[in-house]
Amino acid sequence: MHHVQRRPRTGAPVPPTAQPDRTNPSADWWRQAAVYQIYPRSFADSNGDGIGDLRGITSRVPYLAALGVDAVWLSPFYPSALADGGYDVDDYRDVDPRLGTLDDFDEMAAALHAAGIKVIVDIVPNHTSDRHEWFREALASAPGSAARDRYIFRDGRGEHGELPPNGWTSIFGGGAWERVTENDGTPGQWYFHLFAKEQPDLNWDNPEVHEDFLRTLRFWSDRGVDGFRVDVAHGLKKDMEGIHDDLATIHRADLFDSGEHPLWDRDEVHSVYAEWRKVLNEYNPPRTAVAEAWVHADRRAKYASPEGLGQAFNFDLLQADFDAGQFRDVITKNLAEAAATGASSTWVLSNHDVVRHATRYGLPKGSGRGIAGADGKDWLLDGGDPAEVDAALGLRRAQAATALMLALPGSAYLYQGEELGLQEVGRIPETERQDPTFFRNRGVEVGRDGCRVPLPWKASPAEGSSFGFGSDGSHLPQPAWFKDYAVDAEEADSDSTLAFYRRALARRRELEGPERLEWVGAADDDVLHFARPTAQGSWHVVTNFGDAPAPLPEGEILLATAEVEGGKLPANATAWVRVG
Ligand code: NOJ
Repeated sequence: MHHVQRRPRTGAPVPPTAQPDRTNPSADWWRQAAVYQIYPRSFADSNGDGIGDLRGITSRVPYLAALGVDAVWLSPFYPSALADGGYDVDDYRDVDPRLGTLDDFDEMAAALHAAGIKVIVDIVPNHTSDRHEWFREALASAPGSAARDRYIFRDGRGEHGELPPNGWTSIFGGGAWERVTENDGTPGQWYFHLFAKEQPDLNWDNPEVHEDFLRTLRFWSDRGVDGFRVDVAHGLKKDMEGIHDDLATIHRADLFDSGEHPLWDRDEVHSVYAEWRKVLNEYNPPRTAVAEAWVHADRRAKYASPEGLGQAFNFDLLQADFDAGQFRDVITKNLAEAAATGASSTWVLSNHDVVRHATRYGLPKGSGRGIAGADGKDWLLDGGDPAEVDAALGLRRAQAATALMLALPGSAYLYQGEELGLQEVGRIPETERQDPTFFRNRGVEVGRDGCRVPLPWKASPAEGSSFGFGSDGSHLPQPAWFKDYAVDAEEADSDSTLAFYRRALARRRELEGPERLEWVGAADDDVLHFARPTAQGSWHVVTNFGDAPAPLPEGEILLATAEVEGGKLPANATAWVRVG
């Protein structure tokens, strides 16, 4: 979605990463955690209004426990007009009434904790919603007032200020400035928004903004939240000095890597996280944080440093093709980076912003990777015809990639529904679409609704009109084929994707060992093979990205995504083998 760099092949050796701090056994829980992302509105609906809610999550804690995840990360559940799926926050210290109450939150957190599952919440510091009390106050106040200084307001250009302060564009398409009407009814100043116009950017040069976010971090930490996912972590600090620069400035690739881009990844942003880290470290165990920072790989380390947020997402696997060389390079480079910062690596194949990986890997060649905002032709834009997807191949490869990911040192982030092998919903009627990227960017991006369709819990439609999601419909339409991925059907089938995820997560726990990996075999092979040492000897992980069956090392097969015959691993599959 944001500026994205392809990494070069490195082939560098992988040094061991820093070892966990065992002096406080609970302080390092995050290092190799399997974290399950919940998109709350689409997980489980307890009150039949078609929108998932916190009580719905509480009712599914046994499911999460059986799945075997270490933590859940909840996308925003705060009061919101849902102009951007909840990433437009009205109040950072409350729950949207449609999703529940603070008491419901406490109950949910207690149930998760009782099941041994940690809780991570999303913090959205780059922008508030336009309904936030600060923004309302800013609109009601005069230009130049303290209330306006919490945001980025500027006079327009042109004789009557009728032109935006500059020509910068927003991530979701269209201009990045919106004009307001002043109290006397005249057209007035403009405010800046990197995303939708309902998401005015905060001014991170304003001390009140700093104070308020520290308060929010404390509010949730005091409620027992274990960690935070930080939205658009690389966007907070901006240089608005040269705001009359033309559009070319924000597209200059060299600026992205230097810390000098006016909008992204500026060096000053780390002073914010140094402040946050002090607060997070007041807690025992310290609260964790993971940065969503779409930055050049070499600049990610700062976000992940112990003086900063402590961990940063790498979206490199998610952007890689199903290709041995690309996977190997991504893994090697990221483990080396993690070693340099002392953080553990993060791995992601799917989330609420991209096309599900079971679909990406089944798209016809040349159709792009189906990633929202990626350059080139996008399958979704062509109408997302399910007939064009080789769903069976996509799923085989998705399981192979997942088994590989879950075997890597570091923490793995899973997105709700991937454990069912759920495919992207390509076809959603225009009238039902919700994502602002669709509305602001018509004909260029279809948006992210297709991975946000509510989960199917029950195969039989008789169990409610929304495959057991709730008792009365779902806020995005579920296609009829969702029944094939329903939780109850998969629970009853030992060959299902759900059964595979449960086995893989259970094995992963058993096998947890030092954050080390050793490559075995040639770097240019279609087969990736690495070993993970544990106290009980090593286990080997082999993924076959090629077409022909590949030999496996001799030993006990601990996990395989396809049947191993005659000691050989079929194409598009992964096996874990205990050797010696
Ligand atoms: C990143 C989030 O993952 C995405 O869903 C959201 O639209 C943007 N940040 C803006 O908050």
